[in-house]
Amino acid sequence: MNDSQKLIVNGCRRLEGELCVHGAKNSALPLLSAAVLAHGESVLHNCPALTDTDAACRILSHIGCKCRRSGDTVTVDASNVFGAEIPDSLMREMRSSIVFLGAMLGRTGHCRLSFPGGCDLGTRPIDLHLSALKQMGAAISEQHGFLECNAGKGLHGAKLVLSFPSVGATENILLASATAKGTTELHNAAREPEIADLADYLNKCGARIHGAGESVIVIEGVERLAPCEHSVIPDRIVAGTYLCAALITHGEVILTHCFPEHMNGFSQLFEAMGARIYTYGGGKMYVSGKKVNIAPPTIRTMPYPGFPTDIQAPFMALCTTAQGTSVFVETIFENRFRHVPELVRLGASVKTEGRVCVVQGVPRLTGAKVRAAELRGGAALVVAALAAEGTSEISGLQYIDRGYENIEGALRSIGADIKRV
Ligand code: EPU
Repeated sequence: MNDSQKLIVNGCRRLEGELCVHGAKNSALPLLSAAVLAHGESVLHNCPALTDTDAACRILSHIGCKCRRSGDTVTVDASNVFGAEIPDSLMREMRSSIVFLGAMLGRTGHCRLSFPGGCDLGTRPIDLHLSALKQMGAAISEQHGFLECNAGKGLHGAKLVLSFPSVGATENILLASATAKGTTELHNAAREPEIADLADYLNKCGARIHGAGESVIVIEGVERLAPCEHSVIPDRIVAGTYLCAALITHGEVILTHCFPEHMNGFSQLFEAMGARIYTYGGGKMYVSGKKVNIAPPTIRTMPYPGFPTDIQAPFMALCTTAQGTSVFVETIFENRFRHVPELVRLGASVKTEGRVCVVQGVPRLTGAKVRAAELRGGAALVVAALAAEGTSEISGLQYIDRGYENIEGALRSIGADIKRV
């Protein structure tokens, strides 16, 4: 745990150069749990080295899989899955530990786990996950904070309708239904690119999933899945964060290994602020922030393909120095403005009222000591510090390290004065 570490940032350096985007945390985590379903050794390339992916590997080892990393490749041998219980200490480490539920039920028909942890963004219920799995034949009871889940006779297909397109619930349903008896029809599914990536992996393993990435997904259950080799998609939120960093310094960067089409929900707003963006084939994107100074229109976080809640905080940091007023409405999580008081310490003018935030652009930010309280809010503080006059000290790096691989090294490579102490 790196609670004692800090990032020291000397701001006001223009960022320039080329930066490679690592694999998506929110794809890698469900893919690591999906490997439980494949009888044998799966190979995942472009798997980011993050504390959250490490935690997923520890869960895999705990339930009997052999997991090893070499560079950005993680190999999971799920020939033997014997454990049916995920201990509380591992469940608390991250929210996405809950996707092991669908995978474990699919593979062994049994799972015992406690309620998941993760960044504190407000209450994060799992009722949609549990209701879907119950409709597929799982018996789930709750005792002393633990969930006891059994599908002794195996899971069966069902017609499922989500009242909200939950990313995690959609993932659990794909995992549980891939080897269930019969066909599952899922309506109002999440459409995030990470869902399509999970379905691609499962289909390579022999699953029959149609329509992933759209609102209706049909899964024809198969008997058994075989392992495969797969490359995790690039992290659109990490890419977006680095773009915010470049733009707030009026810099000019080329991102490589990114999928610009996954960023349409926010890249248009960069352009509305005055950025110039060109996308090339082969996963390249050029962005210039020389003329970025206009506050964007109202930003409302939405499920994909709308503006992602995960980029709200870094984007707000970018808006703190734009000319004019920006309004942010957070519709996904109830408590996702925890970065605001820290941005204010850096000189930003931001007011919060419930789920709405009003940012009045200021000519300059000033260096300060600030503390990350969660992952994306932490990244927002880094973005703001890069544009602040003088020195900033950012603590709470254990949150940032959940989702950004070597953030200081990446930003230093494009000219930032940033170091970890
Ligand atoms: N919700 C329910 N009941 C449920 C499930 C969700 O009420 O059973 C609510 C949540 O409380 C929340 C909303 O629905 O208000 C959205 O939750 P969702 O299930 O879509 O999100 P998640 O699966 O918990 C994933 C990402 C988050 C990202 C959200 C939304 C992973 C590991 N996490 O969370 O990523 O913000 O989707 O896009 O994939 C992050 O990376 O910083 C992060 C928090």
